[in-house]
Amino acid sequence: MRLDKLLCECGKASRSEAGKLIRLGKVTVNGAVVKKADFKVDELADTVTLCGEDLCYKKFTYIMLNKPQGYVSATDDPKEKTVLDLVDNEDRRKGLFPCGRLDKNTLGLVILTNDGDGAHYVLSPKHHVKKVYRFECIFPLSSEDITRLEKGVDIGGYFTKPCTIEMEETQKGTITLTEGKYHQIKRMLEAVDNKITYLERISFGDILLDPSLERGQWRYLTKEEEKIFLRTGK
Ligand code: URA
Repeated sequence: MRLDKLLCECGKASRSEAGKLIRLGKVTVNGAVVKKADFKVDELADTVTLCGEDLCYKKFTYIMLNKPQGYVSATDDPKEKTVLDLVDNEDRRKGLFPCGRLDKNTLGLVILTNDGDGAHYVLSPKHHVKKVYRFECIFPLSSEDITRLEKGVDIGGYFTKPCTIEMEETQKGTITLTEGKYHQIKRMLEAVDNKITYLERISFGDILLDPSLERGQWRYLTKEEEKIFLRTGK
């Protein structure tokens, strides 16, 4: 990999900043200053430093975010705040994107990654990855409503796949989906003449939202969670 690319992938600089830092002699490879941006490094074997600090190259980054209301699940948006605005600059530069979408007013678990193949795999409807949402609705849900929703309802020309609902109270419970159509849960509740008033994703496959993360906070997935993410759907 080119030396300037390595600096970018480690989140230390944009491509043009990386070139400048290299030309200024701020970067060493295996102990020797290198001033050529296109110098080839073995990112897994060579020791690279920037201003004396070792760069730890990691092929992919995986982040768990507890999404607050008011942020859109996009990498950038001309008008709205995005989930990427909640992450440090250094990590943003690594080309992160949200793995699946939550609506602007939906809360909870979002996984951010730059692993396109991994994200594509877990998001593919073929792999039936379970996503659990805590919800509240405006009217009590009858057992007939629950049966209809669990079997599948028409949400405007699309018939939803079977899902599972567990109620805690008559207007509050969890719903487990294996697909993710646009505004799916909201439209499902509308199909039974109800309305969602609260929606929070609490798990994605076997990855659970860390209860110690406040809204708007994030952390890296642990090694164990990374393995789970990469196994999800397999
Ligand atoms: N269903 C919805 O309606 N909204 C979400 O954000 C996720 C699932």
